[in-house]
Amino acid sequence: MTRALRERLPVGTSVREPPYRSVMELTEDERKELAEKLGSVQNYNGFVLREMARKDRRFFAPLIMSILSAEFRGIDFFGRFTVEVQEDKVPWHMTMAFARQTYDESRHTQLNMQLLQSLGSDVGEYPDIVLGPQRGDDIPPEELDPAILLARINVALEGFALTTFEEIRALAVETGEDLVAHCHDYNMADEVTHVGIGDYWLGKLSEEQPWRKERSARAQQEFEQALAMFRQLAMQYVGTLPDGNGAVPANSNTVN
Ligand SMILES: [Fe+2]
Ligand SMILES: [Fe+2]
Repeated sequence: MTRALRERLPVGTSVREPPYRSVMELTEDERKELAEKLGSVQNYNGFVLREMARKDRRFFAPLIMSILSAEFRGIDFFGRFTVEVQEDKVPWHMTMAFARQTYDESRHTQLNMQLLQSLGSDVGEYPDIVLGPQRGDDIPPEELDPAILLARINVALEGFALTTFEEIRALAVETGEDLVAHCHDYNMADEVTHVGIGDYWLGKLSEEQPWRKERSARAQQEFEQALAMFRQLAMQYVGTLPDGNGAVPANSNTVN
């Protein structure tokens, strides 16, 4: 019998060129450099950067990198998901739906990479954002049930991404960043479909195994609460920035 993908390719071993590098993995000098660019390492956060970009277009590049970082993870996650759920004997058209979604995430990656370049940056200038546990052994096996994953990732996380894209698109329209507005309009359209795919297959999988319904609803709620808390914390932090609106002195070198 073929060995499971998880045994052949443990979670957290995906590679990229240039390699994945989160804020936590930066050297002291690199942290200083990031702090010089952004005023503080803590400002490397989608919510804070959005407020900073509202005042100064320089901050659109790190804002887009924070999105792009999640898109790369989207390819890794949905690529694996498409293969791993084969062990659960899911319907073939569910496989097709997630293969399509993996393709969409690749397209978003390409779109945001070029957007980043158009803003004068490139992959590697800013670090990757940290997105939950990256290693297989940090995730309890029951959390890997396809319905629970769909509730957390497609419904809760992508629902959250949809709001984020809408906010970035609105900001881009307001500040005259037409290319950002245009690209995020496309991204948003796909996210609507992704949330729909998640909802649909969550319902189907729950018909097969009724225990999934209540458990996935709880997983979705927990995840949404965690995201709301994260957002609230970040927005409080925006309020404490030097001038209260996210604008940072060009040569500030505060390290946090
Ligand atoms: Fe995406
Ligand atoms: Fe997506």
